[in-house]
Amino acid sequence: MGGERLWYERDVERVIVTEEQIATRTAELAKQVSADYQGVDRLLLVSVLKGALMFTADFARALGRCGTPVELEFMAISSYRQGTTSSGVVRILKDLDRDIGGAHVLVVEDIVDSGLTLSWLLKYLASRSPATVEVAALFRKPGAMRTAPPLKYVGFDIPSDFVIGYGLDYAEKYRELPFLAVLKPEVYRRVGG
Ligand code: XMP
Ligand code: MG
Repeated sequence: MGGERLWYERDVERVIVTEEQIATRTAELAKQVSADYQGVDRLLLVSVLKGALMFTADFARALGRCGTPVELEFMAISSYRQGTTSSGVVRILKDLDRDIGGAHVLVVEDIVDSGLTLSWLLKYLASRSPATVEVAALFRKPGAMRTAPPLKYVGFDIPSDFVIGYGLDYAEKYRELPFLAVLKPEVYRRVGG
C-alpha cells in the first residue's frame, strides 16, 4: 500500500493551516483560557455543530490537560445564505439541552466570516442569563471586521477563500481532513454540478 496516495490528495489545492499548527495553537488557547477562568467553578463550552466538532473535541481535551474542568453543550444552527454571504437570519436545528443561567459560557466556533451568525447567537445566549459569555473561534476571515462581535480567543486569521477540513465541509464532505485547506476549482464542478 506504500506508494498509494491518500484519497483527498487529488482534491486539495493547498493546505492553509497544518495539523501541527492547529494542535500547537489549540494548546496555546487552552492555556490562555485556563488562566483567565481560574477559580471559575462552571465553565460551559457551547459548541456550534457541525463545523466546530473537531475543534471542540481537541480544545476540551487541551483544557483538561491544563487542569480546567469544563462542561459541554451543543447547538446546531443554520444560517440562510444569500449567495456566498450570510444573511444573519438563523434557524435553530438543535437547541441547548440545559439551562445556562448563571454559567460562564464560552462559545466554541469553527470559523467566523461576516460575524452575522455569531452576532445572532450571542444575542440568543445573552437572553438565557448566563454569568458571562465569550467566544473562542479557531479561524477568522477578514470579513469578520465588519460586524465585529467580541472575539476574545482567535486561533488563526485566514484569507477569505472558501476552506474545508478540520470540521468544515463542502457538500458535507472533507470534514475529516486533519488540516484546513482550499479545494481545487474542479472539485466544485464535480461535486456541486
Ligand atoms: P458568518 O458570515 O455569519 O458565517 O460569520 C459563519 C458560518 O459560515 C460558514 N462558513 C464556512 N464554512 N468553509 C465552510 O465550510 C468556509 O470557508 C466558511 N466560511 C463561512 C460556517 O458555517 C460558519 O459558522
Ligand atoms: Mg458548512
